Amino acid sequence: MASFDLLILNGLVVTASDIGHYDIAIKDEKIALLAPKGSLAETQAKKVIDAEGGYVMPGGVDAHVHLEEPPLFGKGRSSDTYETGTRSAICGGTTTVITFAPQSKNDPSLLSVLESTHQKAQNNCYTDYSFHILLSNPSPSVLNEFPTLRQKGISSLKIYMTYEALQLRDNEILDVLLTARQNSITTMIHAENGDILSWMTNKLEEKGLFEPKYHATSRPQLVETEATNRAITLSELIDTPMLIVHVSSPSAAEHIRNAQTRGLPLYAETCPQYLFLTRSHLSLPSFHGAKHICSPPPRTSADHPQIWLSLRNHTFTILSSDHCPFHYFDTENGKSSVRTPEYPLGRFKYIPNGIPGIETRLPLVLSAMEKDSKKLSLTKFVEVTSTNPAKLYGLYPRKGALLPGISDADLVIWYPPNTLEEWPIRNEDLHHNVDYTPYEGMMVCQWPRWTVLRGKVVWEREGEGLVGEKGWGRFVERGESTLGGRRGVGEWDVEAF
Ligand code: URP
Ligand code: ZN
Ligand code: ZN
Repeated sequence: MASFDLLILNGLVVTASDIGHYDIAIKDEKIALLAPKGSLAETQAKKVIDAEGGYVMPGGVDAHVHLEEPPLFGKGRSSDTYETGTRSAICGGTTTVITFAPQSKNDPSLLSVLESTHQKAQNNCYTDYSFHILLSNPSPSVLNEFPTLRQKGISSLKIYMTYEALQLRDNEILDVLLTARQNSITTMIHAENGDILSWMTNKLEEKGLFEPKYHATSRPQLVETEATNRAITLSELIDTPMLIVHVSSPSAAEHIRNAQTRGLPLYAETCPQYLFLTRSHLSLPSFHGAKHICSPPPRTSADHPQIWLSLRNHTFTILSSDHCPFHYFDTENGKSSVRTPEYPLGRFKYIPNGIPGIETRLPLVLSAMEKDSKKLSLTKFVEVTSTNPAKLYGLYPRKGALLPGISDADLVIWYPPNTLEEWPIRNEDLHHNVDYTPYEGMMVCQWPRWTVLRGKVVWEREGEGLVGEKGWGRFVERGESTLGGRRGVGEWDVEAF
């Protein structure tokens, strides 16, 4: 009789396409068999997990994570290292992360940026990982490096329409899109109109309006909506796929949906902060509003149903954390460090933008679904948190699937539905290197019971907790996107360029 490394019995297996009661056998880091429930009960294996009817899903793929980045989005340096960020990820059911290799304006080479990011990650990760290039200076020599990036397993990059240190003009965006098209690289874009929001920020400052809540005032939905529409126009012109990251506004989602209806290869991402947080969190007393500052800012609770709907109706392709952690109390790099004797109210424009959420991404969303099943179906949950990010960024079917002989044995095993009493999220229970969570006190009723990475149990909630090892996580080379690409129809001949 075959002997396996691990058996997972009695689970309710959920993939992006199917739900069913199956047993799973794992060997040599891969899914080896999926068999009807009960049929592997007598099979030999080194370890057996009884899932007791809990959901068994492909491990989460979080495709938007900032670790060990220099100050780019305000003052601070992000607080999670590759070690602490990926540790937090596996405790929340995420087995693969795609972080950023950040180019600053004066970095002349993406290859050296990639190399130094590899050095930070290598032997330090609890999850498998890859990098997007974060591109801030598209000089001709930088654009010439795109073919080599592809050879090195990098098939995506992110650009910005805002942030002084990162913002590209439309002509620069077109240069990037054209070169990305020629090299089958997927472009991610941060769509906020940097000129409008700088203008608004200056106006607010002139009036002495410095507090955290004015961060939201400076970035109304129109700022995102205009930039989203412009980004869509630029990608249509070049006829190349684009993903709009961290979409927060129903009006931006409408532009995306229209573009998709016209057949453009336009993809979109949203994040838990746009489902669970509101701009009123930025008004919390004693400067605690700073803990919720991210860009785009959280909107209102009246917007949340539209964001859920945009996940259900395929407008949003993926749901990522945009984990971008800064301590609250840290005199140099923390969010509260912008309060000085001269500016006791702080200055919102210097508060580092970004919030932590790598560990809470999956449990928050699944718990909300368990409380209200109309929010998302289970298959949709797997699609947007695992399968689609794997497809979009060239990791599928190694990641994001449970295909015998093909997929890595990356799994998250949950509790049987409706079996746990609700409890509040507490920062002290999380595993990141951040002194707060913006979700403190929010109630959840699901958490990963086990996380498995390439056949190894790395998290067991009822046992020792974190049992994964730093360094077990590996770099994963990526190919091109397997979601749709160019249309090949346009009013002008882009091939001629
Ligand atoms: O506020 C945010 N989202 N910070 C992270 C940087 C980014 O733009 O994704
Ligand atoms: Zn961004
Ligand atoms: Zn981000």
